Parts: sequence; structure tokens; C-alpha cells
Amino acid sequence: MRHLLEIDDLNETEVAEILEIANAKEYSKVLDRQGVALIFEKPSARTRNSMEMAVIQLGGHPIYISAEEIGLDKRESVEDVTRTLSCFHSMIGARVFKHSTVERMAKENRVPIVNLLSDEAHPLQALADVLTMQQELGDLKGRSVAYIGDGNNVFRSLALASGFLGMEVRFSGPSEYSINDEDRDRLNFSGVNFSEYDNPEEAVKDVDVVYTDVWTSMGQEQEKDKRHKAFEGFQVNEELMEMAGKRAIFLHCLPAHRGEEVVDEVVDGAASRVWIQAENRMHAARGLLNWLVEKNLGEQGRHE
Ligand code: CP
Ligand code: NVA
Repeated sequence: MRHLLEIDDLNETEVAEILEIANAKEYSKVLDRQGVALIFEKPSARTRNSMEMAVIQLGGHPIYISAEEIGLDKRESVEDVTRTLSCFHSMIGARVFKHSTVERMAKENRVPIVNLLSDEAHPLQALADVLTMQQELGDLKGRSVAYIGDGNNVFRSLALASGFLGMEVRFSGPSEYSINDEDRDRLNFSGVNFSEYDNPEEAVKDVDVVYTDVWTSMGQEQEKDKRHKAFEGFQVNEELMEMAGKRAIFLHCLPAHRGEEVVDEVVDGAASRVWIQAENRMHAARGLLNWLVEKNLGEQGRHE
């Protein structure tokens, strides 16, 4: 059973296969009459809507389930919820606080589990990110992306996905909010060309893509003031974009905290591709779901 909890559940060839399906103009109804359960422990605009639309485009029926309703480990254990939903659905997507929650779901091995964002990873976002970069830049081999800010879920998945496709990955953020040694080992193990910079100006020099995400992720709200102080000097503004050079594009997974990690002039500026990137969430989700159906359900039979 194949799941997607993090990008390195896939190999380089498989990422390329998913992107190819994502780019296809014709959609095959591989989820015809199938249900897909979408559990959200945190809010969402892009992930919920892009996943629901992707399921519909593939002929299936998405069901949104809030944390309050399903009560993971409160009303019922994660394992029992997974077993129950597998009775009705061909796949389960889950946006969770703890990455271990999606791991526990996947361990049940009933239906494919898709991580819709955890504290550690955001693989669906990364698929949309590389899809966008590919559409903008062509072959990504030898291209470069500089991520400025928090070494968080979005960065981990982005680094793996863009590294898999041959990009140079640069990171610049306060040392206490950088990725840890385990993450570094994981990137090295995956053969990602990765380097860290103290200075964001140096990190963005001559890159093709400048990327940032919020300094305070969902669930970290109580750390907001401390984080603001720590991230001073790591804002993506017009001066930093100028250092990157004229041809650099700007990406952000969104939602943006305008005036914090990025300013209006950059999000709304000529280099920004954030709305194409947002739309690509749907195409990437459709590519992934179609690929997962072919890999899993095609072989093992579907719910009828
Ligand atoms: N980028 C992203 O995952 O957005 P949402 O939180 O709105 O789903
Ligand atoms: N790092 C952010 C991403 C939101 C899409 C968060 O986890 O809140």
C-alpha cells in the first residue's frame, strides 16, 4: 500500500510521473463512485478546496470532516477512525497537528493516507511548488531555490521535492529555527544539493526562485512575539528580491502574513507567481490522487 506522508515516500521518477499527470488536460475518472475522507484538525483554504475539486474531477466524492466531529483520540482512537473510514472511502487525507497521527493511520494499511499538512511535512504543497517551478522555468536540473525564514513543514517538503528534481536548495533563517540534524541527514541521504546561509542576501544571490512561508505556523500562535524578534532581518522585501536578480520569481505557499515574512510589494509584484502556485494545488492534488489510485487500488480492487 502506497501512502504520501512526506515527499521521500516517492522517488525521483515517481515525482516526475505525478507531475506529468498533473499537467494532463484530460482527467480520467479513476475515483468514479468512490469516497475520499478529508480530515482537518487545522483550518485550510487551499488544501481543502483543491483536494475536494481534485476528487470531483476524478469522478469521486469528497467528504470534509472537522476535528471536532471526528475527535481523533478523543471520541475514538486514530486507529479506529481509520478502520471505520476505510469501510466507506478509497482514500483518507488528513491535516494534523502531530505527524505521528498520519503515521498511525498509514500503519493500519487499509487505504492510502495522504498527509494534508502535519507539524513536519506538507508534501502536497511541495508537489504544487515543483509543478509551478517547472511550468515557469522548464527543466529544473541546475536551477536554484532560496528559502528564507522558518525551517518548517513547508521547507522540509519543498527541499526534498525540488532537490529530487535536481535543484540547488539554499536555506537562510535564524539558527534556532533552522532544520535539525536529522533533517539534514535526510536531505543528504536523498542526494539533495543543500546549503545553509547566515545571511539572506547571500542566499538569494542569482537564484531562480525566492520562497518564504510564515514565521508563525498554525499551532505556534503563543510563540508569535518571540518569533517576530528572532526573524527580524529575514523578511522578503523589494531589496532582497533585487539581490536575487531580475529573473528570480517569488513563491509562497500562502496564507501570507503580509508585513511579516513578506511585504505587499513582493506578493503583488511582477516576480510573484503565488496565484499560479495556488491554482497548481488542485492540479498537483489530482496528479497525486490519480497516481495513488493506479498504484494501489488498481491492483487491489476498489470499494463498490
Ligand atoms: N498552503 C496551504 O496549505 O494553504 P491552506 O492552509 O489554506 O490549506
Ligand atoms: N507552515 C504553515 C503552512 C500553512 C500552509 C503552517 O503550518 O501553518
